[in-house]
Amino acid sequence: MRAYRFASFGLEHLRLEDRPRPEPRPGEIRVALRAVSLNYRDLMVVTGAYNPRLPLPATPLSDGAGMVSAVGEGVTDVAVGDRVVSHFVSGWIDGPYRAAYVNTTLGLPAAGLAAEEVVLPAAAVLPVPEGYDFAEAATLPIAALTAWNALVTEGHLEAGQTVLTLGTGGVSIFALQMAKALGARVAITSASDEKLARCRALGADATVNYREHPAWDRKVREWTGGDGVDVVVENGGIGTLATSLRATRAGGTVAMLGALTGLAGETNLAPLLMMRIRIAGILVGSRAAFAEMNAFLVRHRIRPVIGDRFPFERLTDALAHLQAQKHFGKIVVEHR
Ligand SMILES: NC(=O)c1ccc[n+]([C@@H]2O[C@H](COP(=O)([O-])OP(=O)(O)OC[C@H]3O[C@@H](n4cnc5c(N)ncnc54)[C@H](OP(=O)(O)O)[C@@H]3O)[C@@H](O)[C@H]2O)c1
Repeated sequence: MRAYRFASFGLEHLRLEDRPRPEPRPGEIRVALRAVSLNYRDLMVVTGAYNPRLPLPATPLSDGAGMVSAVGEGVTDVAVGDRVVSHFVSGWIDGPYRAAYVNTTLGLPAAGLAAEEVVLPAAAVLPVPEGYDFAEAATLPIAALTAWNALVTEGHLEAGQTVLTLGTGGVSIFALQMAKALGARVAITSASDEKLARCRALGADATVNYREHPAWDRKVREWTGGDGVDVVVENGGIGTLATSLRATRAGGTVAMLGALTGLAGETNLAPLLMMRIRIAGILVGSRAAFAEMNAFLVRHRIRPVIGDRFPFERLTDALAHLQAQKHFGKIVVEHR
C-alpha cells in the first residue's frame, strides 16, 4: 500500500512511498481509506510549526473515512465491510477531558491518515452518518466536532442568540451551518467579499470583510444593537482575541480554538474582566459528542460544504491550496 511520509519539515518533502500493509493487533482495526479531509493542523504538522521535535519520517493527516478491511482479536463492535469515519482524539471516548488524551490524537502522535490503509484502535471510529458519502464523512472529525463543541458543549447556544465566527475555513462554515440549524443568528468574517456572498447564501445574517474593516468588532456590535454576540467561535488565535472579546456581550462566551495568527503574544484582557466574558479552551471533542453531533447533522439535513476535491496523488497540491487560503469550507482528498 502507498502512504505519504516526510523526512524533513516542509510541503516539498512529502513523498508518496510504498509501505508494508499494516496489520491490526488485538483491539485494533484496519481501514481502507476512501477519502481524507484537510485541516489547518495538517499544515502545521508538515511544516514543523506544530511540533519541531516530531520524530521523522512521519505520515500526516487526521481525518478520514473508509471501509474496515480487517479486525484484530477481541474486536466485536466493528466488522469487515463497515463504513466508518475516524475519531480525532482517539482516547477520549466520553466524560471529562483528561491530560493524557492529548497523546492520542490522530495524524500525530497517533497514526497519520495520508495513506491507502491505516490501523486504528477499534474505539477510534464511528459509523458514517446515514446518507453521507465517504467524502462528506471525512470532513467531520476535526472541523465539525470543533464547531459543535464551541457552539453547544461550551457555548450552550440557544435559539434566538447570536454567534460570531471568524473566516470561511472548515470550522467556521460548519459553525455557520450548525448555528443556523440551532435557530441562532450568525455573523461571519472573511478577507473576501466573494466568500462572504457564499456565506449569505448559506444563511449568514451579517457579513464583515476583516481586511476592509480592521475594527470588525464595531460592525458586529452594531449588528447586535450595541451589546455584542453571545458566542464567538475564535478561529484566529492571539492576533484576533482582543477584537473578538470586544465583539462579545457581557457574560458571553469566547470558544478559543484557533491558531491562524499564532498562539503566543500580547493581547488586551480588559473586556474579559469588565464584561465578565468566559473563555473556553477547545480541543475538538469526545467520541460521545461526535455521535451526538452526527445525529444532529442527519436530523437537520446538514451537508458539509466541500469547496475543493483533489485525487490522493495530489495531496501536496491540496495542502498548498489550503495554505494559500483560497478554499471555502473543507478540502477533501479522494482515493479512486
Ligand atoms: N482547538 C481545536 O480543537 C481546533 C480544531 C480545529 C481547528 N483549530 C484551529 O482553528 C483554526 C481554523 O481551522 P480550519 O481547519 O477551519 O482552518 P482553515 O480551513 O485553514 O481556514 C482558514 C481560514 O481562516 C480565515 N482566516 C485566516 N486568517 C484569519 C484572520 N486573521 N482572521 C479571521 N479569519 C482568518 C481565512 O478565511 P477567509 O479567506 O474567508 O478570510 C482562511 O481561509 C486553525 O487555527 C486551526 O488550527 C483548532
